Amino acid sequence: APAAPAAPTASARAIADAATIVRWCDTLAGISQDDGRTTRVYLSPEHARVNAVVAEWMQDAGLRTWQDAAGNLHGIVDGATPDAPVLLLGSHLDTVVDAGRYDGVVGVLMAIRTAARLAASGPLPFALQVIAFSDEEGTRFGKALLGSSAVAGVWDESWWDLEDADGTTLRRAFTDFGLDPERVAEAALPPDRLVGYLEAHIEQGPYLEQAGQALGVVTSIASARRFSVEAVGEARHAGGTPYERRHDALLAAAEAALAVERVCRAEQHVGTVGTMSVEPGAVNVVPGLARFSVDLRGEFDEGRDRVWESITAAFEEIGTRRGVAVTPTEVHRAPAVFCAPALMDAVRAGIAATGEAAPAELFSRAGHDAMSLGLVTDVAMLFLRNPDGISHHPDEFVSADDVALGLDALAVAVERIADD
Ligand code: GLV
Ligand code: MN
Ligand code: MN
Ligand code: MN
Repeated sequence: APAAPAAPTASARAIADAATIVRWCDTLAGISQDDGRTTRVYLSPEHARVNAVVAEWMQDAGLRTWQDAAGNLHGIVDGATPDAPVLLLGSHLDTVVDAGRYDGVVGVLMAIRTAARLAASGPLPFALQVIAFSDEEGTRFGKALLGSSAVAGVWDESWWDLEDADGTTLRRAFTDFGLDPERVAEAALPPDRLVGYLEAHIEQGPYLEQAGQALGVVTSIASARRFSVEAVGEARHAGGTPYERRHDALLAAAEAALAVERVCRAEQHVGTVGTMSVEPGAVNVVPGLARFSVDLRGEFDEGRDRVWESITAAFEEIGTRRGVAVTPTEVHRAPAVFCAPALMDAVRAGIAATGEAAPAELFSRAGHDAMSLGLVTDVAMLFLRNPDGISHHPDEFVSADDVALGLDALAVAVERIADD
């Protein structure tokens, strides 16, 4: 019988680097604002601590480091000449609430080890600049991709007034962190010097696991919008107020959340109500105010916007019927981003070099820093298998074996770009 094809195997260098990366992921998981969990949001003391720790690892790897005007951490290995262009590698160090250990983090650490590994074999025709983005998730201010938006030069002045759950504005959080809001534009990188941006990330779904492959090439990243919604009814006595006299804000919000699901299911999109709070919040008072979030994703911007129109029509119908004013405010919008064919070819070549004859290709339903960079330069992504597809949860996992394969693939992808 013909021999079965050999399973992809990683190099000794990558196996050693992967062991270091898994250990580093464990260390960073402990830098959290909640005991026993991993929560690390933009412009927090934990953000400062994680930047300091990762800067040391970058320096030990031979990278020159600095923090930019938006709190992103950078490390660079120079190219062959002082005016060489720049290839960006990276991902993010912030997390959701009660996060796993690998989302974002593993991509940053893989970028550091890759820059160190390639620098050891002499300068490349471009500088390798590793960026640890400071805010991808948008956990604190609702608006995602703040760090990479600054680097892409697409910062919007309206964001300064965004508030966190404690009412701290983004502007105030900047100054508390020691950053000058007036200087945020200095974080922007000149697009004409960029070769592109490559990001390694765990898949945040089960596709690669089902395909039986450790690695995949991302073709595009889903289009997203986020809203903060206020439902204003009337707070009244829970015993004395008959149903005909009620304008229950929570019941309107609950119906609105179900409408998000109904519309999205019918239109093959995903929509999520991930937060909800009620005021005044007493057992014997009909809720007068409800606030909730909506996160909406789709493959294309047009479909996403059409779905949002149907959702707002449903909100209006619910509000009118219940005498509750339901008002959405947009807090985040990111267009779908299509990966660049030449960079995708490089990632494909990297995966093929690990022994995978037909690399899996997939669309990312999760958002990534590559969405912002995609507005100014070519981008591509390498996904790592995520068993069970669980992410944004402490059980999130990626194996050291798959990280090692990913490291070999990333190194070959960068070399391929250098040869082009
Ligand atoms: C970030 O993980 C997002 O896709 O929301
Ligand atoms: Mn995430
Ligand atoms: Mn991420
Ligand atoms: Mn993400």
